[in-house]
Parts: sequence; C-alpha cells; structure tokens
Amino acid sequence: MTRDHDAPEREAQNDEQARRALADGGTDDAAAGADDVALDPWGSSTVSDYRKLFEEFGIGEFDDVLSQTPNPHHLMRRGVIFGHRDYEPVADALRAGEDAAVLSGFMPTGDPHIGHKLVFDEIIWHQEQGADAYALIADLEAHSARGMSWVEIDEHARDYLLSLLALGFDPEEGELYRQSDNRELQDLAFELGSKANFSEFQGIYGFDGETNVSHMQSVVTQMADILYPQLEEPKPTVIPVGPDQDPHVRFARDLAARMRFFGVTEAYASFELTDAERALVGAVYDARDEYADEPDRPRCEEAGAWLAEADQTALDERGVVVDDAVRDSAVEKLENGGMEPLRPRVRFLDLNATEEAFEALIEAVPGEKRRYDEHVDAFDLDAAEAEELAQEIELDNGGYGFVPPSSVYHRFMTGLTGGKMSSSIPASHISLLDDPEEGYEKVKAATTGGRETAEKQRELGGKADECPVYELYAYLLAGDDDEFAKEVYDECVNGERLCGGCKEQAAELMQAFLEDHQEKRAEVEELLEDLDISLESPRRGVAPGDD
Ligand code: TRP
Ligand code: SF4
Repeated sequence: MTRDHDAPEREAQNDEQARRALADGGTDDAAAGADDVALDPWGSSTVSDYRKLFEEFGIGEFDDVLSQTPNPHHLMRRGVIFGHRDYEPVADALRAGEDAAVLSGFMPTGDPHIGHKLVFDEIIWHQEQGADAYALIADLEAHSARGMSWVEIDEHARDYLLSLLALGFDPEEGELYRQSDNRELQDLAFELGSKANFSEFQGIYGFDGETNVSHMQSVVTQMADILYPQLEEPKPTVIPVGPDQDPHVRFARDLAARMRFFGVTEAYASFELTDAERALVGAVYDARDEYADEPDRPRCEEAGAWLAEADQTALDERGVVVDDAVRDSAVEKLENGGMEPLRPRVRFLDLNATEEAFEALIEAVPGEKRRYDEHVDAFDLDAAEAEELAQEIELDNGGYGFVPPSSVYHRFMTGLTGGKMSSSIPASHISLLDDPEEGYEKVKAATTGGRETAEKQRELGGKADECPVYELYAYLLAGDDDEFAKEVYDECVNGERLCGGCKEQAAELMQAFLEDHQEKRAEVEELLEDLDISLESPRRGVAPGDD
C-alpha cells in the first residue's frame, strides 16, 4: 500500500477504495451521494434517512427503550442517540445494579473531534451508571485499513486518550487498551476467526481479492474487541457507535452465538424443524383438539393429515401466515413422524461442546429427558431455564458463554460547512485540539438554517432542524440543560432568534468549551503517563514508512 504523508489525500484514496470494493447492489452511487443508507464501515458515513435504517436493517428505535433507561443521557433524550440493537438487557442491568459493560473503539487516523466526543460521552455515561467501561485504540485497523504509520498512530492515540480522560473516563474503574498490545484480545480474535470465512467478508464488507490480509485480521480483531468485556464472564455489553459500524455489530452477534457450546430451540417431536415450520407446527399442536383421538397424545400423522387439509381460516385464528412451501415440508415431516406423539419440549443442540460438556449437560437436565446423538430434549424446562442451564454448563466446562452484544447508534453530525462532517476537511469539524479562537471562528463561519434576510427570518422563523449551529447546541453546547436547548430551538423556529446573535452565542460557548477541555487535557497528562497503556508502539521504525 502506498504510504504518503498527506492524511486527507490518503483518506480520500481509501474512501475511493472502499467504494470500489462495494461492488454490488448499486451502493457505488449511494456511497457518494446524499441518499446513502449503505452501512459501510470504511466508506462514506452520511445517512440521509434514518427511518430506512429501522426498516432495512432492523435497527430498533431508541425511543422505545428510553423509558427503561435510568437517568437517560441528554444525547438519548434529544434523539441524537436514535437507534439500538437489543439494548433492553443493558438498560435492565443498569437499572437493577447488575453487571453490564460498555466498549467502543477509536481509529487513530486524525485529531479527535466533536463527533468523537459523542462516543466518549456515551462511554463515560455508561461508566457512571455502573457499567464496566472499555475504550480501545484501533491501531491495527488504522494501520491495515487506512495505511497510517505507527508514528502517526502513536501521536493520535495519545490525543484520543487525553480527551477521553479529560471528559471524565475513570481509568481506575475502566480499561483502556491498544489492539496491538493486547495479547488476550488477539487470542480471542484468532478463535473467532475460526468461525468466520472469506465469503462472509465478501458479503458483509465487500472484501475482494485485492483486500489486504491484515485488513481482514483487523475485522476479527474488532469482533474480539466487541466480545472482550465478556472474557471474564458473560454480561450485557453495549457498543456505542455510528450506524456505519452496524455490520460489525451484527457479525459480532453472530459470532458470539457460533461460539456457544449449545444451541437452545423449541421442538415438538424428535425431528428437526426450520423456524418457519416450527411456528406452523406449534399452531397445529395448539389445534390438537380438532383432530387427535387422544388430545393429550396427538400423533404426528394425525397432525400432518389435518394440516394438509386445514383451510386458511383455521390457521388464521392462530395467527400463523401460511406459506405453501413451508406447509408442504411440515406436512411431510409430520407424516414421516407416524405414531410419534407431538410433545412440546426444549432442545439442546451440541454446537461446539466437548464430550465432557455434553455429558455434563445431559446429567444436569432436570426431569424427563431424551438423548439423541447431537441433541438432548428436555420436557420439564422452559426456554429461559434451558438457556440458563446451557450457559452454566458451558462456563463450568471452559466455554465463554457469550451473550450477544448490544449496540446504540448516534446520528452523524452535519459538517459546519454543510454536508458531512469529515476529519479530512478542517473547516467542517471542530477538533478537540483546535485553538479556542479558531473554534470560535469556525462557528462564526458556519452554514446555518437561516433565511436570506432578517425580515424573512422574523416572519418565517429559521430552519433549526437543518442548521449545523443548532446541532452544536443540541449535541454539545447546551450540555445537560434541556430547557436551554429547547429555548434555542423555539426561538429559532418562531423567528425570535437571528443567526448572527445565535452564532455569536454558540461561538462563545464553543470557545469556552475548548478552553476548559484543553485545560483538563493538560491536567490529565500525568495520569496518562501512569496508566498501563503503551504510548509508543514497539513497531515504530520497524514497519516500512515509519521513521
Ligand atoms: N472500526 C471502528 C472505527 O472505524 C473502530 C473500532 C475498532 C471499534 N474496534 C471497535 C468500534 C470496537 C467499536 C467497537 O472507528
Ligand atoms: Fe441556526 Fe441559530 Fe440561525 Fe436558527 S437562529 S437557523 S439555530 S443559526
């Protein structure tokens, strides 16, 4: 890979590579345009329509879990954190004072800016709510996917860490690490890699024959990052990230499940059913009074015969939508089952268990059970009890017992010059290292959602929803003060607020924030030196391009 020393150019080059890598599905255009809903970790990161993320990718609306979340952060209250995957277990654990963890990672490719501050704040907030907190420097990813030299990486890594500490991360309680010098992490990455293959990398990330192997390694490393908080013991873990990282989250959730010793499913007879068949057979079981000679022992063949003839209304009542192919295959399996009675049960499938672990599980299943080659059926357990037992046996026998990691997603900040906020366009973002006066000037020069003239603004009101300056208030400058944020918004849309004064106020607040933040950064310098994290990579001067 070429390694010039001009970061913006390199970033553009890499974006271009990532775009080209997105060979299929018309995402090429999407990555370059404003309508992008392709979720590409190394490509463009603007999202014009957040609703599509809910529909197309199954991300949940954060609002639905807001009331479950204790002392929600202002970014949650204001909809900046807009989405989640499976956040409920994390919220529940925080509320109940039970174990939970938060982890996110930062690629040290440039200065930390106010977009990264969102994630710092999310980690710190979860830490304050009692979660074990982890933050990592994704130096392997920066080197392999962005071509950063180790010298540059060291410099930026230090800046991320200082800002995180200055904003209130407690390193005594939490853990900071670099991917490159965390041996346990890399061992875990290796294990996870044995459950992933190249076709998946192609499908998920658009990797192809040109993708460098270390970039692929950085993916399994990120998978390991995401599961790292669970190495000691499984616990609900939230990964706060931008929605571009969702492919990583989904993949990590998958790998977490693939590593488990046992799969737990529900079943009705000795043979296997697909999820769709199972739903249908469940409904047929519920209708047993209609066809069984002995309703407490409905036979498979009776059930199959009934299902073959059942009209849609009989099934509609039971809330199942029948797909003909699913019905045919279910009927066939039921008929093949002959006189075997249908009986609901939970099934433990042997996925990765050692022989001892499988034996231990069979031993531990209470009540009536039946063992088969690759599974054991339990008749006196419900699904939740079965899950718990499976995890317990796995842990006792040296497994990880991972629970699927959760995530929360924040909106991308609009660039101060409009368009996307980009670390390669200095005027578009405010770096946490910007000179406070420069921060002031950048806000003063920002694009607004204002009207052409003051009269029009008074008459029609400003467009706060499209205004990068309003975003600064909502995301950062108003801090925890909801009333203030609302006042700015209302005054703007009512036409009481004019952009000149509004920007002046924002610029002053920004300047004060930067002054304060940089003072705090200076204060935590010593703290950083004392931490157990290396600030100079041993790889410096070894890798080509390093000096
Ligand atoms: N890939 C992330 C980025 O591009 C960085 C990262 C590495 C990360 N490991 C992680 C983020 C684990 C969240 C969790 O910025
Ligand atoms: Fe934006 Fe403030 Fe102008 Fe409203 S008044 S459009 S919030 S700069």
